[in-house]
Amino acid sequence: MTETSPLAPVLTHDGWELLNSLPVYDDAASMTLNQRLRDAGHDAELVAAALTQSRLRRDARVKFGDFAERMLFTDDGLQQSTRLPVAAHHARRFRDAGVTSVADLGCGLGADAMAAAALGLDVVGVESDETTAAAATMNLAAFPEARVEHTAAEDFIAARRLLEPGRAASLGWGVWLDPARRDVDAGRSAGGRTRRLWDPETFSPPLSLVTELAATGAPLGVKLGPGLPHELIPADCEAEWVSLDGQVVEVVLWFNALARPGVRRAATVLRTAGNAGTDDAGLAVEELTSGEDFTATPEGEAAGVAGLTGLLCEPDGAVIRAGLVADLAERLGGRMLDEHIAYFCVDAEEVEEAAASTATVRAYRVIDVLDFSIKRLKRWVAEHGVGRLEIKKRGVDVVPEQLRTQLLGGRKKRDGAAATLVITRLGEDRVAAVVEPLPRR
Ligand SMILES: C[S@@+](CC[C@H](N)C(=O)[O-])C[C@H]1O[C@@H](n2cnc3c(N)ncnc32)[C@H](O)[C@@H]1O
Repeated sequence: MTETSPLAPVLTHDGWELLNSLPVYDDAASMTLNQRLRDAGHDAELVAAALTQSRLRRDARVKFGDFAERMLFTDDGLQQSTRLPVAAHHARRFRDAGVTSVADLGCGLGADAMAAAALGLDVVGVESDETTAAAATMNLAAFPEARVEHTAAEDFIAARRLLEPGRAASLGWGVWLDPARRDVDAGRSAGGRTRRLWDPETFSPPLSLVTELAATGAPLGVKLGPGLPHELIPADCEAEWVSLDGQVVEVVLWFNALARPGVRRAATVLRTAGNAGTDDAGLAVEELTSGEDFTATPEGEAAGVAGLTGLLCEPDGAVIRAGLVADLAERLGGRMLDEHIAYFCVDAEEVEEAAASTATVRAYRVIDVLDFSIKRLKRWVAEHGVGRLEIKKRGVDVVPEQLRTQLLGGRKKRDGAAATLVITRLGEDRVAAVVEPLPRR
């Protein structure tokens, strides 16, 4: 690694010791700490590098938990890295498919590679950026079965002849790719962020290289942004949308031995901490799959306003992105209200219980259903002494903050009862459902 690399100072013995001796990074105390360390005789460049790493370690706890305390980061690498629980989910797919070695082509800081190595898989991480490769090398140092090559994925593929049919599979390799989807050449925002790319051919490596590798029969997974249009998804893979604690984080396209037989699209809802039924990575996992292609239209009538009773279910974003709302409604014995609106309702008590205990939906008890009229809603708010109002909307052109101000008028926010309104369009009707959120699972 070149001496000009921002990581070079902390990769010396003294630098590493200094970094690991620092207290949890505190923005307010950083200037004083910087001065104190320099007064104690530490080199200014080393102090700056150690404090940067200390700040990144603090920020990285969200994604890496306690592991962050021993890792090295770059700003860009951290922004792009996979959250460790999600990486563990990827790694399990490789292990369960019988893959023994993983080539992680564009390994970044090594989150996915770490998770695979932690399951005992052999891992080679390939990374074209020198500083990122150095950080990944350190992050994987605890795993003897993992190593990092600082080279371009394309060169690695050529050197190992991975575009030959059957080659990766014959080596016992699975291939993982998490292409860079940010434009590093187009400058940065004030917050230091790079611009997001949308065209999969501008990703690095591009999607066409991924599909070329997949065409060789390689067991392969590629992580992409969850907004990937369905029409860009190749016909011969399983597409899995994943959410973590309610946030949709990715879609992974799984090819060949890593795709589940008969599964075309899937939603995986992951929850961390405090859940019953957690797996070996401490995660609660709920999955919904379909063998139907994306264009398949769900069967069954939409119930409209008349069906807006019992529990209103708002599916997790992964279910919505995977186009599996109607499938989930069917699984829970519910009824769709409108084919274009991602809500459904369930009634029977035992079904209500299922809907209230799954993380695939957020459930709300329907208290009342009103016509969507400002006058009518103002009256309702006044009659019920509402002072705090949460407004959710779907399929209607409403700005919740503006509507809240309109309905509450001069009423103080903390003054009065709390209420939740769901504004939506069902067929020709615009309605406001008064609902009560059930506790989150
Ligand atoms: C999205 S990041 C990977 C993040 C990684 N999965 C993690 O969780 O830490 C993509 C990485 O690919 C690297 N990269 C981009 N193009 C590459 C190429 N052609 N060959 C090798 N690495 C590449 C980038 O430098 C970046 O670090």
